[in-house]
Amino acid sequence: MAWPCTFDTERLRAEYLRAEHLPELRRMHADPIVMRHLGGVFSEEKTQAYMARGLAHWDAHRLGVWIVYERGSDDPIGRAVLRHLHLDGYGEIETGYAFYQPYWGRGFATEITRACLTLGFEQLHCVSIVAVTTPENTASQHVLYKCGFTLDRHFERDGETLMLFRVMRPGYSASSA
Ligand SMILES: CC(C)(COP(=O)(O)OP(=O)(O)OC[C@H]1O[C@@H](n2cnc3c(N)ncnc32)[C@H](O)[C@@H]1OP(=O)(O)O)[C@@H](O)C(=O)NCCC(=O)NCCS
Repeated sequence: MAWPCTFDTERLRAEYLRAEHLPELRRMHADPIVMRHLGGVFSEEKTQAYMARGLAHWDAHRLGVWIVYERGSDDPIGRAVLRHLHLDGYGEIETGYAFYQPYWGRGFATEITRACLTLGFEQLHCVSIVAVTTPENTASQHVLYKCGFTLDRHFERDGETLMLFRVMRPGYSASSA
């Protein structure tokens, strides 16, 4: 448990994904508001597959999905992601986030993303970290800009056009990567 399997920010606590979180995954995946830009609500089969991939990713890399709580509470309010992504033949580290609607607009996505960037840059020594959004998800794009990301490019996945954002390690530029 040396690696931050669990970590705190000023207002949030993040716990690494475990099998006991399956009801929480089901709850988020059934929420059409949260899932609007994440491929829509998931079937039970898709949630089981997400859990299996998430657990395998943790076993292999000590990275993946964290369930997020307000500090001092045991009620999940969202999730954070820091994981490997293979894109166009390159290995990247991707960050991501999702919160239930009552918790939007309080800076939580920004706060957890900044913490994930600190983990990525200071502990994993990443040169850059990426994030993926749909073009319609302007709130998510705003979070990314606030956290220092810039648009890297558009790309296609499963017939959908997506936006790839990137933030460089402090002191690095894209040309020094
Ligand atoms: C996207 C999401 C994570 C943002 O979470 P959040 O905790 O509300 O984000 P923050 O409060 O840190 O920041 C949101 C910023 O976007 C702004 N914003 C909100 N709605 C917006 C919109 N439709 N377009 C542009 N900006 C918007 C807010 O004003 C805020 O900016 P500010 O701090 O400068 O005022 C949240 O809406 C969510 O969980 N959505 C569902 C899951 C999802 O889409 N995840 C991202 C997948 S890429």
